Amino acid sequence: MGYQQELGDLRPLLDLVVRAARDAAGVIREAAPRVRTLDWQSKGPVDFVSEVDLAAEARILALVRKELPEATVLAEETAADVSPASLQAGLAVVVDPLDGTTNFLHGYPEYAVSIALLFDGEPVVAVVHDVPGDERFTATAGGGCHLNGLPCRVSAITDPRRALIGTGFPFKDVSDIAPYQAQMSRVMAGVSGVRRPGAASIDLASVACGRFDAFWETALSPWDFAAGMLLVREAGGLATTLEGEPLPATRASSVLAGNPAMHAWLGAAVRGGER
Ligand code: IPD
Ligand code: CA
Ligand code: CA
Repeated sequence: MGYQQELGDLRPLLDLVVRAARDAAGVIREAAPRVRTLDWQSKGPVDFVSEVDLAAEARILALVRKELPEATVLAEETAADVSPASLQAGLAVVVDPLDGTTNFLHGYPEYAVSIALLFDGEPVVAVVHDVPGDERFTATAGGGCHLNGLPCRVSAITDPRRALIGTGFPFKDVSDIAPYQAQMSRVMAGVSGVRRPGAASIDLASVACGRFDAFWETALSPWDFAAGMLLVREAGGLATTLEGEPLPATRASSVLAGNPAMHAWLGAAVRGGER
């Protein structure tokens, strides 16, 4: 059965995730002034989590588990060990409580709460709440993409020389950085500018509202992009793997997003093809 038959009107579900994201944004905003005194715990050599990530995630999960007890939960900090197969059946909630933790820990104002609802593995409801900017990007399947309640669209730029491209640098394992550097060289040679803001969910939201014309990153987790991919699609853009294959919202993947023309150009550029 499709999501329309199973879920009906998606707006109450959107209201729920918007409320959860707003509550988590409040937790993060309240903690921001004392960021220099926070304890960082290591998840990897250059990958940290703070009490704020955990508190924001707890706030979101308390609400979604109460309101959607039947949903499978994939959440970065406390419920990350969920098989892709279990996210493929029925309703699932995919949560990044604080996307852009490194930025947050340094007081660099680019971080967000990202929540997606999947049905049978595909995103159908999404919110990305940019905390310092207090911008809320929302989308529902077939219902379009909105920024603070107003419709938004991808850009109309088709000439790469006029394009602004977003990216995310590999950072967890840089032992083989050369392929990414080659991608970057090819992209930089063809466009107006490249930016690395440091929060993938906002990067995708930036594509959705036309600030970026396209975006790529070689390795992301579902909580980084499940909401953003729906924003981009509902704003008239494309979100795929770097190879142009369908993007799986249930497992780690590369991500390529953009308005249709710049998605095609950037895909060719990162794969080493024509520009
Ligand atoms: C990270 C950000 C970053 C991306 C990383 C992600 P986190 O998420 O989205 O932009 O380059 O790959 O892990 O760890 O800050 O939630
Ligand atoms: Ca993230
Ligand atoms: Ca995170």
